[in-house]
Amino acid sequence: MSRTHDHVTIHPKILYFGTPVALLSTENEDGTTNLAPMSSAWALGQAVVLGLGADGQTARNLWERPDLVINLPSADQWPAVERLAPLTGRDPVPEHKRDTHRFEPGKFAAAGLRAEPAELVRPQRVADCPLQLEARVVRMTSDSHADYVIVETEVLRVHAEPAIVVPGTQHVSPAAWRPLIYNFRHYFGLGPELGHTFRSETAAADMASV
Ligand SMILES: Cc1cc2nc3c(=O)[nH]c(=O)nc-3n(C[C@H](O)[C@H](O)[C@H](O)COP(=O)(O)O)c2cc1C
Repeated sequence: MSRTHDHVTIHPKILYFGTPVALLSTENEDGTTNLAPMSSAWALGQAVVLGLGADGQTARNLWERPDLVINLPSADQWPAVERLAPLTGRDPVPEHKRDTHRFEPGKFAAAGLRAEPAELVRPQRVADCPLQLEARVVRMTSDSHADYVIVETEVLRVHAEPAIVVPGTQHVSPAAWRPLIYNFRHYFGLGPELGHTFRSETAAADMASV
């Protein structure tokens, strides 16, 4: 594809340029689990850093109770994610969300997702998600406007469905794992593989299973 160099300057309202969706499990004051979709996340080593709206129940919970599970739905689970989209675990609903969101304490049932206990942290895991990362907050900071919080977490344990693990290894199979991508407020899956970096440790294993 040839690309032009005559770009236009635009002012998009949002900059969600396509990142995987996660469902965050956090613990409410009464010990129940809140579940919220999010996509502003990145991983480096065993750290996962999250960007969260400051007035959501998830951020509130994490200031008080630092345990969480980062559940990763697969692409075909987007309808369950979207059932959670208009909900908040915060009561009363923050002023600016009243036209778009409603309070819902039972997020698992509302989404049609099953809960299962975590092993090292208090909030429940989403049993239906193929990848689940039990994690704990190591640092939380507010942005300069106090609209968002930046949450640095350390992953303590990874649970993976056997079908997405390269047999006999500790690797998630890039050929089998199908993340759900949030692309300017639309849900996408991945296209076919284009290649891999020179440091891939799964290339040979994936080739062998073809
Ligand atoms: C696909 C998707 C991605 C989202 N990404 C984020 C995000 O990265 N950070 C965030 O704070 N909210 C994000 N949201 C919005 C929250 O899910 C929403 O504010 C929700 O009400 C928070 O729930 P809570 O108040 O129970 O924590 C996203 C929503 C959807 C549907």
